[in-house]
Order: sequence, then structure tokens, then C-alpha cells
Amino acid sequence: MFPTIRPRRLRRTAAIRNLVREATLAPSDLILPMFFSEALDAPRPVATMPGVSQLPVSAAAEQARLAKKLGLGGVILFGLPKQKDPNGEASCDPNGPVPLAVRAMKEAAPELLVMTDTCVDEYTDHGHCGILKKDARGDMVVDNDATLDILARSAVAQARAGADVVAPSDMMDGRVGAIREALDAEGFSDVAILSYAVKYASSFYGPFRDAADCAPQFGDRTGYQMDPGNAREALRELFLDEEEGADMVMVKPALPYLDIVHRVREATALPLGAYNVSGEYAMIKAAAAAGMIDERRAALEALLSIRRAGADFILTYHAIDAAKWLGA
Ligand code: PBG
Repeated sequence: MFPTIRPRRLRRTAAIRNLVREATLAPSDLILPMFFSEALDAPRPVATMPGVSQLPVSAAAEQARLAKKLGLGGVILFGLPKQKDPNGEASCDPNGPVPLAVRAMKEAAPELLVMTDTCVDEYTDHGHCGILKKDARGDMVVDNDATLDILARSAVAQARAGADVVAPSDMMDGRVGAIREALDAEGFSDVAILSYAVKYASSFYGPFRDAADCAPQFGDRTGYQMDPGNAREALRELFLDEEEGADMVMVKPALPYLDIVHRVREATALPLGAYNVSGEYAMIKAAAAAGMIDERRAALEALLSIRRAGADFILTYHAIDAAKWLGA
């Protein structure tokens, strides 16, 4: 065949490369995670995530207008309450930081898609993603079934505030069904569920736990989040969440798990998200600050690669910068 067939012909100019590019990246593919704190009056930078700050609720309206102006796909909100307790009751407070921020954002930019992370770990004093109990052996464990109720009530509070999408990230079994049932019963059958269906027990969440003040005070999350060695199990989690009524599903983290993004893409017709998590962001930031890589090129390449693996949308702390780099 050689030299009749020459793939390099399609790489000769930017024009032809643009024409034949298979995966694309646009601001509308990107969801910006944000941290709203009840205790703050001014933004507080997160040391391990350069460029990211915890924000006071009073900043929500302006942030919503910015996200809308840049054409982002949406935002996802996390909350830092003043008071924590063993059960994370503050996650259901209609005047908690997330419901207040949702209201302000919806008022300032009604067309902006607003998602809320549904989990109790930012609200529990022990930092676990559920209510604790002593099991039959006397060991402290997260009580799956007791946690479903507070997750459902928290999702309802978020929906009542105006969230378009609730996103359970706790990894309790059965939570998608419990949340769907509660939303429907309270008149929110039009609020969608984005399930963190496939969430691994990952070291790449480290910086987030500073940002959201939710590091577990003892033990770790391996009893509920997935083992990094497992791929078939991702499909099991996917199918269960589909059956329970998830409208969209997500894989998390993204970059070390692109094979999982691809497998889940092949296995579902649901819209698929991927979470380009805090540690992935921090690595690019740190390497760029050390002069080792070009931040803009590395971040855009990483995001494009997550799209190429099969994600429809990406949760990323690079959303604002990436939207600007993409010409928004
Ligand atoms: C739990 C939650 C976590 C993240 C999103 N939701 C932390 C965890 O599971 O420990 C991590 C996101 C990131 O690292 O960017 N509510």
C-alpha cells in the first residue's frame, strides 16, 4: 500500500485537522463545582487547589451570571455548614448554604443549569458519607439503610430551593430509588437525578476534602466507594442505578479511569458525565507552577481526552479557564 495511503495528509493544516477531529470540547460540556460556606463573608482560597475558593452565599448571584455568560453546561454546588452533627441534619436545612445559593443563582440566571451534590459528608462531624452505627460485631460502620432517609430529605430540600438536578455522591445502595421516590412524593417529578453511579475510593479526592472540609475523622471510604481494581463492578453499579431511575450517570475520578468511562459509555444509553476531580486538577496546577507543563494545553488535552473516552459532560475545576481558552 505504502506510499499510496498517508494518514499525515489529514494532519497538514489546522483547517483539515479541525475538519476530521472526532471528539470536541465546548464550554457547554463543562460543569463547574462550587463550594458555598455559611460561615464566610468573603472568598477563602483553598490552599491545595490554586484558583478555587470557598465562597460566601452572597457571591452566588454574580457567579451564576459569570457561568451563564461563559456558556458553561452548568454548576454543581457543595455546602459547608456552620454546624455539623453525627447525622448530617444540616444537609436538609432549607436555609443551609446550598439551598440559599441555589435560590440566588436561579434568580440571577434562571437559564443556568444548577445541580446540587447530595451527600452528608460535609455535614457530619465524623466526615463519613452516612449515619454511623455499631454493627452486629461491634464495629463502627456506615448504616446504609438509615442513611437513605436523610439523603432523600436533603435532595428534596435542594429540589425545593430550585435545583434542576440532584447528584447523589454517597455510594449507599438503593439511594437513587429512595431519592426518586421522595422527589416524586413531594411534587418534584421533574427534577433529574445524576447518579455518581461509579465512584471509586480514590486518593485523588485529597484536595477536595480541604475544600469541602469533609475528610473522614477515622477510617476511610473503602467500605462504600468502589475498589480501584474493579471494572465489571462498574457495570453492576450502572445497571442498578438505571433500574432505580437514574436520569444520568457519572464516573469518578476521570483521568485514571478512562477505561471505565469508555466501558460505561458502551453499556448505557443514558447521558454520561465524568468528574475530573480535585487531585487531577491539583496535579496540573502543581506541574504548571513548577514550569513542567503548559497548563492551558495540558488541561484542554485532558478534558478532550475525557470526551473522547465517551463522556457527554465533565465536572471540572478548570471550567471557567477552559471556557475562556475555548473562546467564550
Ligand atoms: C462526597 C464527594 C467527594 C467528592 C465529591 N463528592 C469526596 C469524597 O468522596 O471523599 C470529590 C470531588 C473531588 O475530589 O473533586 N460528597
